[in-house]
Amino acid sequence: MNKEEVLKRTEEFVRQKIKGYDSGHDWWHIERVRNVAKFINEQEAIADQFTVEIAALLHDYVDSKFAGGNIENGFAELSEFMDKNGMTKIKEQVVDVLRNVSFSNKNPSGNLTDPVLLIIQDADRLDAIGAIGIARAFNYGGFRNNIIYNPDIEIKSSSTISHFYEKLLLLKNRMNTLTAKNLAVEKHEFLEIFLKQFYKEWEFGSFSGKRKY
Ligand code: ADP
Ligand code: NI
Repeated sequence: MNKEEVLKRTEEFVRQKIKGYDSGHDWWHIERVRNVAKFINEQEAIADQFTVEIAALLHDYVDSKFAGGNIENGFAELSEFMDKNGMTKIKEQVVDVLRNVSFSNKNPSGNLTDPVLLIIQDADRLDAIGAIGIARAFNYGGFRNNIIYNPDIEIKSSSTISHFYEKLLLLKNRMNTLTAKNLAVEKHEFLEIFLKQFYKEWEFGSFSGKRKY
């Protein structure tokens, strides 16, 4: 099987799986991560481009949020698919990358400096910031029925705005490659511009005309 054919089959395999995910994890997220990951590797030339592409396509295949916490079934399916489709040689490497790629993975194992991992992490993180990142965050928040914002900081809120502070604003400094660091600058600035405008409108809407204090 040639690489084109393997990529096509992997694409189809992923499309089927992510149908059950939220729309922020739709096919276009995968496609962007794939293209941005390829771009990063073209600039940096640190990894095998085919492995990068396969890992990007598969990076959200196993997601504990959508697997009822049981990720091992997903990895077993994945493993079988890779063996059946001529990817045995890169299987272990790709599986390690997928296990480590998530921001929320608190128990990383395997090779944490694998260039493929560094690239996929960067591409995935880049898609969580900037205008698209903001759109994805509010989309996810809606999917979870979370509130947009809670100005009462006493209440530990799980609002989408709080997600900016817990994750999105931290990502700029977590980029691995120089290419991604550069791409993150403008996107990060846009998060800050967005928040500034958001608070301005919030204040106006809260106090205009009938100040409480
Ligand atoms: P990854 O793509 O690394 O798996 P996640 O699955 O955690 O990341 O997140 C997918 C998208 O949903 C990202 O854009 C992320 O910012 C957003 N997201 C995750 N958790 C929340 C949350 N609690 N509130 C708003 N957006 C969220
Ligand atoms: Ni992703």
